[in-house]
Amino acid sequence: MPLQVIVGAQWGDEGKGRIVDWFAGRADYSARYNGGDNAGHTVTVGKQIFKLHLIPSGIIHPQIVAVLGNGMVINPRTLFDEVETLKKAGVSAAPERMHISYAAHLITPAHQALDKALEAARGKGNIGTTGRGIGPAYTDKATRHGVRLADMLNPDFCERIGDHVADTNRTLKMLAAAELDPAAVCDEYRGYAERLKPYISDVSIELDAAIKAGRVILVEGAQGTLLDVDFGTYPFVTSSSTTAPGALTGLGLGLEAASDAQVIGVVKAFQTRVGSGPFPTEVSGDLALRLRGSGSNPWDEYGTTTGRPRRVGWLDGVLLRYAVRINGISELAVTKLDILSGLEIVRLCTTYKRDGKTLADLEFGPADLGPYEPVYEELPGWKEDVSGVRRWADLPPAAQAYLERLSGIAGVPIRLVSVGAEREQLVVKE
Ligand code: GDP
Ligand code: IMO
Ligand code: MG
Repeated sequence: MPLQVIVGAQWGDEGKGRIVDWFAGRADYSARYNGGDNAGHTVTVGKQIFKLHLIPSGIIHPQIVAVLGNGMVINPRTLFDEVETLKKAGVSAAPERMHISYAAHLITPAHQALDKALEAARGKGNIGTTGRGIGPAYTDKATRHGVRLADMLNPDFCERIGDHVADTNRTLKMLAAAELDPAAVCDEYRGYAERLKPYISDVSIELDAAIKAGRVILVEGAQGTLLDVDFGTYPFVTSSSTTAPGALTGLGLGLEAASDAQVIGVVKAFQTRVGSGPFPTEVSGDLALRLRGSGSNPWDEYGTTTGRPRRVGWLDGVLLRYAVRINGISELAVTKLDILSGLEIVRLCTTYKRDGKTLADLEFGPADLGPYEPVYEELPGWKEDVSGVRRWADLPPAAQAYLERLSGIAGVPIRLVSVGAEREQLVVKE
């Protein structure tokens, strides 16, 4: 398949990074189409842990060309920090192997300040954003005030940035937040413009040619289906199209490219969410502590980007079926199966109840999940540690049964099962 799209089927942090890493071994391009440094994708290779926020996770494989699409919002400070971190780890993200769309939008400190000020103003009803300026950057894009990477190539770039900071200052002032010095931001961004120039191109042309030449393009979604600005738990969502169709508009690909696409949905064996918003299958107490972990392991449920403890719960089959439909998922990669080992019973939400009626699907998408009550199926747990398992047949029968049921609820087959954070801790189901 020339186009392989990896998407999160839940609220983000499903383990997309580690699944992308597996597919990237067999791909030519690794491309991101949405979001910015709100994302945190982890790839563990031996003792080395890579935490990627902007650069596609496939970059770790030496044959890969990385692409950052027009659908992204890019904070150059984060980008160059990441380039340096990768360099120290022996991974090059030089312009020869990383290409960024001229039409991607820039994130500035003004966007970040506004994101934080807006969240503070929302008070109790806040979204729980990552504070990275994502919402304000996409707002500027939609209201046609944005600054794009291509603007960095123009002699008047500094003026554009200065105007943008001055504009944002007016809003910050209304929100009683500290204003920024336009000249200081200009100076910083002039430096980034020089460094970014060799990276900027029309990646749509390159990807089109690559598809025609039969190259494999691995596309990496950021966030997850339920955080999509249209299809998520609105308004508790991010500001971009996180779902698979966003890959086309976010990279400049036509519908033709989708005719040969494979969509792999990444789903945790349970359910997590960071930030505010509905979560029907959320659990609390000892079980929550058990699923979250204490924070002593790198894979425990604390945000990769913000370090916030993640809310946890049982896998929600209604929302998974929804994700399969909205993305066109053809197969699943299930992660963190190892975490369920040792539980007496495991639960799967198969349907919802509302006003005494059982519903297999949502009436109006997931925006208003409040009135729904999850209906669970209980399955026997398994005691065995599965982190050393590499073949489906070696998984405990109860774990196999859990996965088979999950796949049945979703209506699509499971291709991969991740049993640990490390690259090799993976079961490929033939
Ligand atoms: P992403 O945003 O979807 O790429 O996911 P994150 O990297 O934010 O969060 C997933 C976390 O789980 C990371 O710490 C991964 O290293 C870890 N992880 C991924 N798959 C597994 C797994 O199968 N088992 C365990 N224990 N950890 C995993
Ligand atoms: P990855 O790619 C989990 C959540 C935030 C907040 C909401 C809006 O690592 O899966 P934003 O800063 O985007 O305006 O915040 O979205 N959020 C994520 N949650 N994983 C992510 O990315 C997320 N990116 C944003 O916590 O609830
Ligand atoms: Mg993450």
